[in-house]
Amino acid sequence: MIRYLEAGESHGKGLVAIIEGLPAGISIDIAFINQQLARRQGGHGRGGRMKIEKDKVEVLTGVRNGKTLGSPVTLMIHNKDWANWEQIMAAEEGAAIDQKRVTLPRPGHADLTGGIKYGHQDLRNILERASARETAIRVAVGALAQSVLRQFGVELWSHVVSIGSVEALPDYTKLNDALYDTPVYCTDEEAERDMIKIIDEAKEQGDTLGGVAEVVVLGLPLGIGTYVHYDRKLDGRLAQAVMSIQAFKGVEIGMGFQAAQVPGSQAHDEIFYEAGRGFYHKTNRCGGLEGSMTNGEPVVIRGAMKPIPTLYQPLRSADFVTHAEGLASVERSDACAVPAAAIVMQNAVAWTVLESMLEKFGGDNWQEVKRNYDSYLDAVKAAMQ
Ligand SMILES: Cc1cc2nc3c(=O)[nH]c(=O)nc-3n(C[C@H](O)[C@H](O)[C@H](O)COP(=O)(O)O)c2cc1C
Repeated sequence: MIRYLEAGESHGKGLVAIIEGLPAGISIDIAFINQQLARRQGGHGRGGRMKIEKDKVEVLTGVRNGKTLGSPVTLMIHNKDWANWEQIMAAEEGAAIDQKRVTLPRPGHADLTGGIKYGHQDLRNILERASARETAIRVAVGALAQSVLRQFGVELWSHVVSIGSVEALPDYTKLNDALYDTPVYCTDEEAERDMIKIIDEAKEQGDTLGGVAEVVVLGLPLGIGTYVHYDRKLDGRLAQAVMSIQAFKGVEIGMGFQAAQVPGSQAHDEIFYEAGRGFYHKTNRCGGLEGSMTNGEPVVIRGAMKPIPTLYQPLRSADFVTHAEGLASVERSDACAVPAAAIVMQNAVAWTVLESMLEKFGGDNWQEVKRNYDSYLDAVKAAMQ
């Protein structure tokens, strides 16, 4: 079993994660982790913060000479902005907390409920952790998972399928590295133009936009996950991973909500058999998951992100301390972060997939894991004949 804990405030010194349970001898691609971090910072519509931060991961423990030691792996991302916040966010008593006090909660953010629940008068104490800056370390952890998954021949891709009311017609042949040099990580150029336009309009009006991102997992063998118990069902775990991302309010697997609108004859994937090839499907309406297990087809998951709660044309709010009417506070913010959120989703999914893979093939070192994996693939092949 692998697990991790992570910590860090948006304007604190940095973000850290401790990952436990990784087998020894796994190659870790630090350049790949940094590439994923850079992609999370990209996308048309990001705000000023992303110009300050140039995220790079530092591996503090558990890796030597490019390979895991079997001991806990600690990752850290330093916040460049810390230099401007050192006095305000200082751990020591006497921090300059009055300088950046927040008392006007933003509708749609954690500010108001968090303030009441945790007993803070300064809502900065809430937003510092609720902020999606936290997703940087989740991307680092997920990218490490991706770099392990690649050694099993498993690849993940993410792309944007809608922003606001603009919907793309996805072109799956364009899921490659070049996609992340484009402004909104969308495979449909016509939709991309319209997406950029509505993001710019929203920005001009001090407004924000949400959208839908999709993650595709390629190369998974059948039988990852299980139907036997609720908390080990892969679809349930994937939904949790996606829904735990800030601002994500919906998740679909395969046809998702659309499957609820059509008869069964148009919702399921018929089964075929060919000697040599074994069992296969001609469609993938179920998004690669049947009975909470992978069925050998690509796993396809969509996540819906609501518009960002911080508006430069702020919504009405009430002061947390004085109760006076006012306008919600404005923290440096994005107009649209759906492309970045797609990368976050890709990496959140990667972690969950690796968790299930290592549950099935786990061992203390990579050779043992690989042996288990290869012998399972042989067994699947034999069962198909
Ligand atoms: C990649 C990403 C970037 C985000 N950027 C911002 C932002 O700049 N400003 C903001 O108010 N919310 C931003 N959010 C969303 C908030 O963090 C989120 O809405 C808030 O924490 C409340 O949580 P909830 O929306 O899940 O209820 C972002 C979310 C993601 C995934």
